[in-house]
Amino acid sequence: MIKVGDHFPEVTFTVMTSDGPKPKTSDEIFKGKKVVLFGLPGAFTPTCHRNHLPGYRDNYDALKAKGVDTIAVTAVNDAFVMGAWRDATNCGDKVEFLADGSAKFAQAAGLGLDLTERGLGMRMRRFSMLVVDGVVKSMNLEEGTGAEASGAAAMLEQV
Ligand code: BEZ
Repeated sequence: MIKVGDHFPEVTFTVMTSDGPKPKTSDEIFKGKKVVLFGLPGAFTPTCHRNHLPGYRDNYDALKAKGVDTIAVTAVNDAFVMGAWRDATNCGDKVEFLADGSAKFAQAAGLGLDLTERGLGMRMRRFSMLVVDGVVKSMNLEEGTGAEASGAAAMLEQV
């Protein structure tokens, strides 16, 4: 599993734009930037929708004040779903929605989560990380069912 000191894997996410889905490479996202990335099992699922994502959206100003360039969320969902989730949660440009639709990042980072028995297929574990110029500086893997270790309040103490 990805850990502190590792370079972020070279992967390509998909983002939803006004012109439809577009690729976005890890280089474009992380090079020369201080990025808070959090990941979760799925757009619109209860803990992700009511707690994890809103925490980061609502702490946008506080994170920016600490020098964070980008707050980004990723999940094993396609860009259409991630775009709809961004719009439904009024995130605007505060959070970048990175679709990992084919779980390439989840696999490369060792963060895959098999939810087949619950009807969700292969997903991603809940986590947050601080990535500075492409290097992982902190990594918070959520062990329980909530979003505490990987939540915005915990990340605010690390940036
Ligand atoms: C959630 O509440 O975030 C959740 C629910 C079911 C499956 C995965 C995540």
